[in-house]
Amino acid sequence: LNLAVFGSGSGSNLQSILDAIRAGRLDARLRCVISDVPDAYILERARSAGIPAVHLDCAPFKTKLDGEAQQRAIELLSEHGADTIALAGFMRIVKSGLLDAYPRRIVNIHPALLPAFPGLEAWKQALDYGAKVAGCTVHFVDAGMDTGPIILQRAVEVHDDDTPESLHARILEQEHAAYPEALQRLAENRLRMEGRRVVLSVNPE
Ligand code: GRF
Repeated sequence: LNLAVFGSGSGSNLQSILDAIRAGRLDARLRCVISDVPDAYILERARSAGIPAVHLDCAPFKTKLDGEAQQRAIELLSEHGADTIALAGFMRIVKSGLLDAYPRRIVNIHPALLPAFPGLEAWKQALDYGAKVAGCTVHFVDAGMDTGPIILQRAVEVHDDDTPESLHARILEQEHAAYPEALQRLAENRLRMEGRRVVLSVNPE
């Protein structure tokens, strides 16, 4: 797996992917890390690991990766030899130019059990709703927001004394296990589609 990671924040998911590669749990090479936020800590984590860290200048105040920025992203991915994209705390919607360039090769992690609670601060939505189980979802990215076929989910109990922060921290712990596991299934080419369902094949064909 030649992986590019896109993120806009602290990069704890990037760190768990890096750690999994170093521990031999993920057969992947991290080709580059791209962020739309110039001083995002995810870029610092990449630099510390000796991985090309690129700030992609995107249209401010927009919630999409489109236009020139999308074209630049596609160039960067090709320059760095990436064949798979992992969105990790990336706060922009990927549009068709990138989706079409990487069919079924862009994945995302969302801090809720989709299809419940798509969108922002999903852990807070779950808590406010009164859900008793929360969690995270790794899914293929499609043209919608948090709507692509689900690869893997991890559940987390919601405690009566949970705050948004305490619940989010517990979900993040599961994210850090779920993402490398899901990416390894991609690396082993063990994901098959049955309609919209993503199923695990015993061994690659
Ligand atoms: C977190 O809210 C996480 O739940 C979601 O993206 C955000 C940033 O995570 N997946 P990270 O620490 O930048 O990976």
